[in-house]
Amino acid sequence: MPLPENFIQELKMRNDIAEVAASYVNLKHSGRSMVGLCPFHSEKTPSFHIFPENGSFYCFGCGVGGDVITFVRRIENLDYMEAVRFLAQRAGMQVPENQVDDGLAKLKVRILEINRETARFFHQVLLSPEGKPGLDYLMGRGLSMATIRHFGLGFSPSSRFGLVDHLRKKGYYPQDMIQANVAVRSQSDRAVDRFFGRVMYPIIDLRGNVIAFGGRTLGDGKPKYLNTSDTPVFRKSDGLFAMNFAKNTGQERLILAEGYMDVIALHQAGFTNAVATLGTALTPEQARLMARYTKEIVISYDSDAAGQKAASRAIPMLREAGLLVKVLTIPGSKDPDEFIRSYGDQGPARFRQLLDRSGNDVEYRLQKIKAGCNLEQPDGRVAYLTGAAEVLATLSSKIEQEVYAGRLAEEMGIDRAAILSQVQRVRRKAESSRRQKEFRTFQQQSAGVRDAVNPEKSANLRAANAEEALIAFLLSHPEAVREVSRRLPPEKLVTSFNRRVYRAVLEKAEEGGEVDLTGISAGFSAEELSSVARMLAQHHEVKATMQDAEEYCNVILEESNRLDEKKVLTADAQDIQKYLQRLREQKK
Ligand code: UTP
Ligand code: MN
Repeated sequence: MPLPENFIQELKMRNDIAEVAASYVNLKHSGRSMVGLCPFHSEKTPSFHIFPENGSFYCFGCGVGGDVITFVRRIENLDYMEAVRFLAQRAGMQVPENQVDDGLAKLKVRILEINRETARFFHQVLLSPEGKPGLDYLMGRGLSMATIRHFGLGFSPSSRFGLVDHLRKKGYYPQDMIQANVAVRSQSDRAVDRFFGRVMYPIIDLRGNVIAFGGRTLGDGKPKYLNTSDTPVFRKSDGLFAMNFAKNTGQERLILAEGYMDVIALHQAGFTNAVATLGTALTPEQARLMARYTKEIVISYDSDAAGQKAASRAIPMLREAGLLVKVLTIPGSKDPDEFIRSYGDQGPARFRQLLDRSGNDVEYRLQKIKAGCNLEQPDGRVAYLTGAAEVLATLSSKIEQEVYAGRLAEEMGIDRAAILSQVQRVRRKAESSRRQKEFRTFQQQSAGVRDAVNPEKSANLRAANAEEALIAFLLSHPEAVREVSRRLPPEKLVTSFNRRVYRAVLEKAEEGGEVDLTGISAGFSAEELSSVARMLAQHHEVKATMQDAEEYCNVILEESNRLDEKKVLTADAQDIQKYLQRLREQKK
């Protein structure tokens, strides 16, 4: 049973899309809409629009759109029911339960409960005699009891059934333990512990849920860390270890480290703004997540080759997300944890020094290029300057460009203007290829080519455009639905996707329901709703009237009739016979 319509409408009313979005995106008023940098893709110029009048959003850059529920689904990575609960909670409303079939949502709740109980269990084991090897290990690595408790660290028993038996006693089912990936199915079809004899690091999301675990061997066993595989509540590439703590520190910057142990050591040393990815390369999603909480990232990766390579890859991604990037270099091929510990009591102060001295990523990148060029040779000098110009060309600030060009000029003993003109050349080239790409996308979009949601659009542009304009009109003028539906029966719409949307609008109006994006959203996929949101967005500035609507109807009718005629012309004799037969029957 779907949720009652009036509940959803009230939910939407009490969760103003502009207000909800403003807690994630910096929005500015622009005419009748609000614009900001899209949270769903990386961009430098804002193409993300909120249309408060009809409660919709749309990004002209990436084509994502919808209503406030869709927005929350996407940004919080929730399913439909979870998004509804999220918004209900925000507005202090009660969700009418028990009439919804939300199997997946219920499974997720069970998995989260199992994870929480598992974390509690591992922690208790760590403090029991059975966990002594684990506790000794962690203490041996310099962690205090307070830190161990703060992070909820634990130990997984070496018997293969310690956790499974415990969870069973608490009333959980083996199949759910397997779904949570704290247990695996054995050859003999039993659930056995996935982690045993490991120190356990729970991974906690921004809402305080335990979503996964990392487990480290005490010795040299392989793999060093065993992590939870992806489950319905966990995607490894989305998670950031300790972000639940770091987000609350209200600091201007976050420290991005590589490993669990680095983060824990940093927090213990007072750097509670440290986070780490979960053993995967940084993703754009993670960069954007961080950008929601801070302005600046200090990359503090291991100083080995792998760490430096990872840093070079992370820098452009973080910049793309609008973050300032600094790179901290740890002397003596160490990771932050080793560095801090090697100085004992002085560790925190020493790390603070590194932090304050950390260069910005421009210096870092220039240094990297320089290291790869032989400056004794003319070739090497040219290679260095060419590479450097490419780095400077990525800077959007003219002042920054000038400063670094000046330094380079001095260092290499050449004219600053020559460097700047090379930078300009690189920029122009990049700009023109960006323009070309944008133009191609624009052409494709406006020609309706590759509209996956409405594949018939490209062959029926005139009709499809009128259909879209009409749909946008109706969704903002529900009072006109009746009149329009008299003129234009649904079967006259040429493209089947638009026909479906039109039907949904008429049905909603017939039922006396709210004719808007939310009202018609049942029965459409997220991509389909994005497409409807696009129609609203594209026609937002056009103040269409009933007269325009009539014009749209005429175009659609014309096109529809033209196509019917064409069908008759190309049909074979038999089809024509059938057609005439039908006409005759209709007349009778
Ligand atoms: P590191 O090997 O640098 O780990 O891997 P670390 O945190 O410094 O651990 P210690 O100091 O040796 O105990 C960095 C991160 O890569 C992931 C983990 O998230 C780890 O923290 N990783 C590493 C894995 O997921 N699996 C592995 O086998 C190794
Ligand atoms: Mn380490």
